[in-house]
Amino acid sequence: MPRLLVTGGAGFIGSNFAHYVINNSDYDVIVVDKLTYAGNRASLADLPEDRLTFVRGDIADARLIDDLVGNVDIVVHYAAESHNDNSLDDPRPFLHTNLVGTFALLEAVRKYGKRLHHISTDEVYGDLAFDDPNRFTEATPYNPSSPYSSTKAGSDLLVRAWVRSFGVAATISNCSNNYGPYQHVEKFIPRQITNVLRGLRPRLYGEGRNVRDWIHADDHSSAVMTIIEKGRIGETYLIGADGEKDNKTVVELILTLMGRPPDAYDHVADRPGHDLRYAIDSTKLRTELGWRPSFSNFEHGLAATIEWYRKNEAWWAPAKGATEAFYARLGQ
Ligand code: NAD
Ligand code: TYD
Repeated sequence: MPRLLVTGGAGFIGSNFAHYVINNSDYDVIVVDKLTYAGNRASLADLPEDRLTFVRGDIADARLIDDLVGNVDIVVHYAAESHNDNSLDDPRPFLHTNLVGTFALLEAVRKYGKRLHHISTDEVYGDLAFDDPNRFTEATPYNPSSPYSSTKAGSDLLVRAWVRSFGVAATISNCSNNYGPYQHVEKFIPRQITNVLRGLRPRLYGEGRNVRDWIHADDHSSAVMTIIEKGRIGETYLIGADGEKDNKTVVELILTLMGRPPDAYDHVADRPGHDLRYAIDSTKLRTELGWRPSFSNFEHGLAATIEWYRKNEAWWAPAKGATEAFYARLGQ
């Protein structure tokens, strides 16, 4: 069977991708993950041992990565420090993992001539005005705002340079905000759901007018598989599902779906440098590779996600206290 190395496969989107691959393809999966605060071995616990191998390690460890990459067919690179609020508090780990880690992977795929798919974010493009009629496309200039998005932008540029200078066989995708099961409680949607489950009030930064373009993690996974199988080497594909919503609307919807008054939330301190709006034009992926999202109804996807957090308190409870203590220190 062909073997996929999934970096960061114990995190939110990487673990959803591991489930997707094992349930929808013949690939065997090898996950390499450092198990930082954001990684959770339990997110892979239900996957069969004959299809999934787990290796704990740092992607910046060049010897480990050399060993692993030499023994697989394709590398899918999810591992990253991924949270803007953490990057504003302490940028250092973002440089280590997002830049030095990506460099180590690139050197290994270059040495062994392996195919790489690099996972990135729409945040590399900066933000859009609320009334801008344009959305991000593959031609939008990079203009990142935070230590998180600037290190992701740097990792994309490293991949592009290794394609051009060394002939590495890589593709890149930049996706919008994901939601779904196994997302850390520090992120917007799980934080509000688990606050309500704990009897705490949701917390909205500023006025809540900021817009995010939501996509279900399964749709992200199906898009990545499509690019791995049909994408053109050296190309970038934007992944999005036409899911623009402002944060206030999302909080009110969560409260309503959970049987609470829609105004039972608090406004808290805004994020410094808070990006106003992200929006993806995924025409290239849809027309060139024929991909379509399958979660067309955000409310249904959100209701299923709420149900998952309701049933899986044992998965999220250990992280909740430290996360809320961190936000309390920031006044958020
Ligand atoms: P996450 O924080 O939930 O998971 C990251 C995983 O990487 C964790 O399991 C962590 O332990 C692991 N990791 C961190 N540093 C490591 C290192 N040095 N070596 C090995 N493993 C390490 O993040 P996520 O939300 O699942 O994001 C995954 C990828 O998708 C990231 O590259 C992110 O930029 C990208 N992305 C995320 C979103 C989103 O909405 N969350 C949207 C678009 C793109
Ligand atoms: P987040 O999930 O951190 O993703 P990103 O910063 O990558 O978009 O935040 C999504 C949006 O929600 C963002 O505009 C910040 C906002 N937000 C809140 O209003 N309250 C919160 O408690 C959090 C964590 C985020």
